[in-house]
Amino acid sequence: MKLAMDIGEVPMGRLMWRAEAPAKAILFGEHAVLYGAPAIAIAIDIRASVSIEDSEVWLLNGEEFDPLVNPHLTHLISEFSTFENPLSVSIDSAIPIAAGLGSSAALSVASGMVLSASKNSDLPASTETLARAAHRAEARAQGGRASPTDTSVSSLGGAVIVSSSRISSLEHHWAIDMDGPDGTNHWDVHSLPIPPSLISVPLVIGFTGIPSSTREMVESVAQKMESSSFRISMDEVSKLSIESIDLLSKGDPQLIGDAMTRCHSLLQKIGVSSPELDNLIEAVLPFSYGAKLTGAGGGGCIIALSNDPEACANAIRETGGTPYVTSFADKGVRITDVKS
Ligand code: MEV
Repeated sequence: MKLAMDIGEVPMGRLMWRAEAPAKAILFGEHAVLYGAPAIAIAIDIRASVSIEDSEVWLLNGEEFDPLVNPHLTHLISEFSTFENPLSVSIDSAIPIAAGLGSSAALSVASGMVLSASKNSDLPASTETLARAAHRAEARAQGGRASPTDTSVSSLGGAVIVSSSRISSLEHHWAIDMDGPDGTNHWDVHSLPIPPSLISVPLVIGFTGIPSSTREMVESVAQKMESSSFRISMDEVSKLSIESIDLLSKGDPQLIGDAMTRCHSLLQKIGVSSPELDNLIEAVLPFSYGAKLTGAGGGGCIIALSNDPEACANAIRETGGTPYVTSFADKGVRITDVKS
């Protein structure tokens, strides 16, 4: 309602919309979520914002927009807008790119929100519609191997569990079936209330500074899934991820931290860690309940649950990484501005 009133006050010609969406961190189940296991992910308080205004030609951050260089945005324009009506799109993001924190998912859902709002002149598309469209954009970019984890968390905020069947004890949002190179995947997207004991625990992210391609990481895992001994290791990741749903709802940071550290060892075993990620983990563990790589791995970030975030941040810096001290974010994608 408020939105429709604001739009009525905006003179024609320089309509500007801005939306923002949070980054995500996967606590358990990266990669395994593409093979039937649940993924448990949280929105974190590092955000990306996208704004649009009328323009004579398509622009991205003031420069000519190249659809080939920006496949996610191109996909969102094709779903929510039309290339016949050019817009100037500006991105302002604090989320490091190709770092496992869901930068492209956050930008996709925020772009979908402003594009759909501007096209419909009153209401942006629903959270579910945005999440589904952004997931299709991710799947295209990742060669068909993309779970809806990142896009669901950026859309919904809070803690999200994506699983291959419905979990009756959790709030269920929507189900997705998607054909990929390894067959058809089914995912159910749920929210899990974050226990009060966890909300106040600082989360420390350590970026190795090494970008990683999710597409390449998921492809390399898919190739190794042909070996039965590798599948046994992946089953261990899946088992821990299932057990962690219960741990997370109980909210004991030490038990969750222990499980995160165990998860990191299993991710090492499936070959998605790196010496730089392992060094950061070793550096933060003395100051943390637990730590693990987060996202596709190969580079990117670690996440530590810690009651001494400053010590963790210093340890990350001394090991050559970049620290981000952050916290759980309960809000997902939202419009932040409608102006003339
Ligand atoms: C990427 O953030 C997490 C992966 O599990 C891929 C996916 O879920 O699409 C590696």
